[in-house]
Amino acid sequence: MNYSKQCFYVFAILAVSFLNIQCKSEKKKEVIETNTEIATNQVTIEKSDYGITSEGEKVEKYILKNASGIEIDIITYGGIITALKTPNKDGVSQDIVLGYNSLEEYTNSNPYFGALIGRYGNRIAKGKFKLNGTEYTLATNDGENHLHGGLKGFDKVVWKASEEKNDTSASLKLSYLSKDMEEGYPGNLDVTVTYTLDNDNKLNVVYEATTDKTTVVNLTQHSYFNLSGDSSTSILDQELKINADTYIPVNETLIPNGKLATVKNTPFDFTTMKVIGKDIEADNDQLKKGLGFDHCWVLNEQNTGVRYAATAYDPSSGRVLEIYTDEPGIQFYSGNFLDGTLPSKNGGTYAQRSGFCLETQHYPDSPNQKDFPSTVLEPGKKYESTTSFIFSVKK
Ligand code: GLA
Repeated sequence: MNYSKQCFYVFAILAVSFLNIQCKSEKKKEVIETNTEIATNQVTIEKSDYGITSEGEKVEKYILKNASGIEIDIITYGGIITALKTPNKDGVSQDIVLGYNSLEEYTNSNPYFGALIGRYGNRIAKGKFKLNGTEYTLATNDGENHLHGGLKGFDKVVWKASEEKNDTSASLKLSYLSKDMEEGYPGNLDVTVTYTLDNDNKLNVVYEATTDKTTVVNLTQHSYFNLSGDSSTSILDQELKINADTYIPVNETLIPNGKLATVKNTPFDFTTMKVIGKDIEADNDQLKKGLGFDHCWVLNEQNTGVRYAATAYDPSSGRVLEIYTDEPGIQFYSGNFLDGTLPSKNGGTYAQRSGFCLETQHYPDSPNQKDFPSTVLEPGKKYESTTSFIFSVKK
């Protein structure tokens, strides 16, 4: 081999190795970049200390965040959603739920802002019901009736938390053991509520429970929404649609008389999108009893699993909230009892109708109403229920 040939081969070998190294490092870079992409697109879950209750129990806050900027803050006290931030039509993120800034405010006086409700969501007439011939007596914490689980319902206990995560969602699993005869209810009830946020802008809430004695269960979530992102404004300009042809009329103490009524030609007709304030002041006996809307709508397509329940829309911000559930009913409460005395998160107070609740659930007073779907849970059986909240914007 002459000298120039030798030079050529050495040069060729060097060039090939250089290209090879370059190529490998490009590949490596590509892998790293893809990983970063996955990492930034993942739903994150972060934990921090929130406070300590007067009984010395530690309360933690979890923040779930997804790729499109939805942020949900949940504390282990009451499983309360303390903040829920979503972008408006211009991409500005704002908090769309009512609540407080501190644990102290939640423990002082909370009209169930953001909380998990149990063992029985809604009212039980006179705080009494019978199961297999035995009469049970519960606290009467709403006039003569029992409301939302009693004096210390699931909204006022500290839940045990654990996190779960995969590529497209993150979950906060909250568990609580409600002891036999707690608040007057029979049976040790093992409850788990799992909040999952995914990258399709869905907050899924799965409720599970088992008991060792026959009992009644009706769990729900009590967030107050104001889709404008400004709780100093009223919800009366926001729109609502409920997938229900009938609703449940109530007496003066908001207990059903056992009959369903058609929504047709009444202020209760939300079968097509309607401004919440349109009929709220109508001369209607049911509206007078509830001081506005505070009724359970009987959702269409019963016993078909999770199906469409309701849509709320705020024209000013463009925010849309859709709700899907397998529950038979949805309580639409138009924030009638808020009276401007409770402090808001941003220095003001919560005025009447500054938030609305859409609580998916079984019907009020079911344990005393033979024609309503049963809320009885037997040992060996599992209570399971799912509700999804889907957030979007309409431009
Ligand atoms: C529920 C009830 C209302 C009211 C609120 C909390 O939604 O139906 O009557 O008690 O909770 O203030």
